Amino acid sequence: MFGKQHITLGEFIIANQDSFQYSSGELSRLLNGLRLAAKVVNHEVNKAGLVDILGEAGDTNIQGEDQQKLDVLANEKFIQTLKNREIVCGIASEEEDDFISINSLDDNHQNKYVVLIDPLDGSSNIDVNVSVGTIFSIYRRVTPVGAPVELKDFLQPGKNQIAAGYIIYGTSTMLVYTTGDGVNGFTLNPALGTFYLSHPNMQFPETGKIYSVNEGNYTHFPQGVKNYIKYCQQEEGDRPYTSRYIGSLVSDFHRNMIKGGIYMYPKSSMASNGKLRLLYECNPMAFLAEQANGKASDGYKRIMDIQPEELHERVPFFCGSKKMVEKAEEFMAQ
Ligand code: AHG
Ligand code: MN
Ligand code: MN
Repeated sequence: MFGKQHITLGEFIIANQDSFQYSSGELSRLLNGLRLAAKVVNHEVNKAGLVDILGEAGDTNIQGEDQQKLDVLANEKFIQTLKNREIVCGIASEEEDDFISINSLDDNHQNKYVVLIDPLDGSSNIDVNVSVGTIFSIYRRVTPVGAPVELKDFLQPGKNQIAAGYIIYGTSTMLVYTTGDGVNGFTLNPALGTFYLSHPNMQFPETGKIYSVNEGNYTHFPQGVKNYIKYCQQEEGDRPYTSRYIGSLVSDFHRNMIKGGIYMYPKSSMASNGKLRLLYECNPMAFLAEQANGKASDGYKRIMDIQPEELHERVPFFCGSKKMVEKAEEFMAQ
């Protein structure tokens, strides 16, 4: 589609909007809003190490600005950007108890999309200079346009997603997303503040050699998970696999998509549905995984088929290279 010139994210969004079956201009504006918020949050994340100079969370800094924790700040930046530009009708965030309805003083506003967001994923990694991320997920509302959004606009199964993606604030900052037509990754050139298409058509290798799980919870895992972990460690064929766990889903997923691997956050005797949130974390990652030839499951069935019951519900999560997730499911079924 493109020649050898460098394609920016902005250009890519416009070039692809015609292939999008619904109101493409509106989705483009929304993606551009997320792109902008990503740059703002990237800027904040990158100066996190200066906290001793600029002041701790709760302090007032030298410019008289209140310092905030980065997860709170990321939450505000994304919500503000989406609100101000009037490009969505509702937002739900991992950081907010309730969904936010954006309307409707202006009865004419015709926005059709809701956004669900994990503004800062892997937040325990902030203080130690390890990659964190942002995860987003976009649905078409199911209630009539023009009226305030309702809970059911957010409680949709993942298979209804229109778009999903993440931003990874890593050694470089990338925005990776899908609108249901494959997965593309864009890397930020920080000098120019521009995202460039660097990873077109990303694909999970069919199988891989990496398993990612918090093994500190091993004794609390179901027997199927324990057996699968032992299988990963066994010497046979292409095994033993190697273990990699960053503790931020975005980063673990991103690495596994490029190198081949499986990410697991199973249930345990301490957490009956694991830890990850279906709406803010698992569904968007599942959509990306499937669009990249991977697979996402709760150990037994497809993540994106689950009908959510509440905003902050959790679900066990097995995601990554297709063959590896299928093998884990085999162990779970025994
Ligand atoms: P968040 O920072 O948004 O709360 O998410 C953290 C999640 C996920 O990113 C990560 O993989 C997982 O929690 C790590 O949990 P453990 O520390 O329990 O392994
Ligand atoms: Mn998270
Ligand atoms: Mn978070």
